[in-house]
Amino acid sequence: MVDLAALTGVLTRAPVVPVLIIDRLADAGPLGSALVRGGLPALEVTLRTPVALEAIRAMADIPGGVVGAGTVLDAGQAKAAVEAGAKFLVSPGATPTLIDAAHALGVPLLPGVATASEAMAARERGLRLLKFFPAGPAGGPAYLKALASPLQDIRFCPTGGVGPENALDYLSLPNVICVGGSWVAPGDAVRAGDWTRIESLARGAAALRG
Ligand code: 3PG
Repeated sequence: MVDLAALTGVLTRAPVVPVLIIDRLADAGPLGSALVRGGLPALEVTLRTPVALEAIRAMADIPGGVVGAGTVLDAGQAKAAVEAGAKFLVSPGATPTLIDAAHALGVPLLPGVATASEAMAARERGLRLLKFFPAGPAGGPAYLKALASPLQDIRFCPTGGVGPENALDYLSLPNVICVGGSWVAPGDAVRAGDWTRIESLARGAAALRG
């Protein structure tokens, strides 16, 4: 059984889900806190660095935040992420094995799709909230707009090539629940510990809708 309500709850907390690549564990807490302070409570920590799982652990208790794991590629990573405290999982694609693993773990999964057939396959498994990835190269807002009428009960979180210059083009579509992006946590700002800048970027992103 897919827990759509839990995932909807995560994805409707703000218009933007920050996609985070954390190289230094010490950055995890202050980075997460700055984003939450700025109004972005859902934090996606990608499993792309050696400290990613520890970073999830470090961010699990940030007041007002909800931490998830991104770039989850297989069942083993899904299990490790949940054990570290991830409350939701995001993946670039949607394999049956990964969907099964997320169901077995009882944790919401936002799997990536880029075509109508992939979206339909995920829909057959009960999924109604999907990541559209990589959003820009796969066709951008025009492509997602074209999917809205035939795939009426699916909503997407476009990620990949989304930034302040085009986020509203996606967010104004009826089948977009939120967008994901790394622009709110630029590598140079994280390296410099410039949490004020990151909070300000988060504040701008949080104000994008409404
Ligand atoms: C990624 O692949 O890192 C995410 O989709 C974020 O993409 P972005 O850096 O273009 O926001």
